[in-house]
Amino acid sequence: MVIASNPSPVADEIAQRRKRAKGTKAVAHLGGLRSRSNAMALAMWTRTANLGDLAYCLKAEITIGVAVDRTKHLQSALADGGCFVGGRFQDPEGILISAETFFSRPFVSLLLVEAPARRCGLASALMTVAEAKYSGRQMFTSTNQSNLPMQSLLQGRGYLPAGVVLYLDPGDPELIFMKKAVATLGSRDVRLLIRAKAGPAIHPVPGGKC
Ligand SMILES: CC(C)(COP(=O)(O)OP(=O)(O)OC[C@H]1O[C@@H](n2cnc3c(N)ncnc32)[C@H](O)[C@@H]1OP(=O)(O)O)[C@@H](O)C(=O)NCCC(=O)NCCS
Repeated sequence: MVIASNPSPVADEIAQRRKRAKGTKAVAHLGGLRSRSNAMALAMWTRTANLGDLAYCLKAEITIGVAVDRTKHLQSALADGGCFVGGRFQDPEGILISAETFFSRPFVSLLLVEAPARRCGLASALMTVAEAKYSGRQMFTSTNQSNLPMQSLLQGRGYLPAGVVLYLDPGDPELIFMKKAVATLGSRDVRLLIRAKAGPAIHPVPGGKC
């Protein structure tokens, strides 16, 4: 996928619609650090993150409790096109970070959707673009045993249990999951990928649920 440096037609359309929006809706971002007014719901989108998204990546990692400074790792993942952001408005509301760091295999180290945007299909859309990036490869990810929403998402996408790591979080083992090389895509995924390959840097997600 291409990283945009100039506004795309979709971004222009988003800016135009926001200008026209009359209502006021406050939206919390990453624990209420930012708020937005005069915003209205738009079609969901995803795009490859770029170095301009570094601060958002770092904030997301802090939100899920990463305590070490991973700036260098994130810069490298961004340069490699392994980070994706997406949302329903102009600003990102969700992020996925991946890199070939798990025994040299693709590994999704972070998937986070801000609370107001959950259950809209955004995490699924981000997983779809990440799986497309590593198309033909095994994909790995992990989550805590207590994280039932993430396990449900992974099960629904065909991920298989691949192991357990103890002693990372006391009393809450880390479950490893693996998805075999993507061979079969749902029709919604196919539509998304066709748009991603052909289209502008911002990719509308068909059939968003919110
Ligand atoms: C897990 C998380 C990423 C899901 O994001 P999301 O955008 O709400 O997920 P989607 O809307 O794409 O949901 C896809 C599927 O996942 C499952 N799912 C998502 N949230 C769920 C929940 N709270 N309870 C049960 N199943 C859930 C469902 O099967 C859902 O499909 P459905 O809506 O058709 O039932 C989000 O809840 C989150 O950011 N949690 C905090 C961070 C985190 O735990 N990250 C994962 C470990 S790094």
